[in-house]
Amino acid sequence: MECHQGMGELSVDDRTKAYQQVAQGELVIDTLNPEELPAILEIERSCHSNPWSAGIFEDCFKSTYRLWAARRNGELAGYAVVTYQYDEAHLMNLCVAPAARGQGVARRLLQYLVARSGHDGMQLLLLEVRHSNKAAYRLYCSEGFEQVGVRPDYYPAPNGRENARVMTRPCLL
Ligand SMILES: CC(C)(COP(=O)(O)OP(=O)(O)OC[C@H]1O[C@@H](n2cnc3c(N)ncnc32)[C@H](O)[C@@H]1OP(=O)(O)O)[C@@H](O)C(=O)NCCC(=O)NCCS
Repeated sequence: MECHQGMGELSVDDRTKAYQQVAQGELVIDTLNPEELPAILEIERSCHSNPWSAGIFEDCFKSTYRLWAARRNGELAGYAVVTYQYDEAHLMNLCVAPAARGQGVARRLLQYLVARSGHDGMQLLLLEVRHSNKAAYRLYCSEGFEQVGVRPDYYPAPNGRENARVMTRPCLL
């Protein structure tokens, strides 16, 4: 009643903005926690034909890896796993939950980890991507990665093996 009268004072732009804030929530990039393993595995299995096991993630949490989470309203929307070797950062895994795709989550994670790797003294960011993974390839190209090589038969595939593109970009923005 009273509430409805108040809404009448909002412009269309204000209402759209208010709706988007609720619908999309604020995306926060932060450290991924081992306690989130069940949610991580659920996303992982929905993202990859050969998903990482719980044991692989547990090893990442124990060693010199960096694991980044994208959360919306406290809920895990995606994550990235990076390892640092000398002055090179290697992106090992990047996943976005199917329901959160197409909203810029992967781009935000990628921009964050590029900046963070540079801040941590890394010079170069390197990754492998399946030759058939057009969505990820487009994302990496649009974020300044260039293909520098091919690893033949790098990934398991339904009919044998599949090549990986090797892509790099400087960590400095
Ligand atoms: C690839 C993946 C990480 C993209 O996540 P996302 O949050 O949906 O991506 P974003 O919304 O940030 O999109 C960024 C860009 O990626 C590209 N992209 C994303 N999804 C795409 C699709 N379905 N088709 C074509 N391009 C796509 C576009 O260039 C897009 O930019 P635009 O929106 O300006 O066109 C996600 O689809 C995923 O988790 N896939 C399974 C796991 C995977 O392939 N990981 C990468 C391994 S190397």
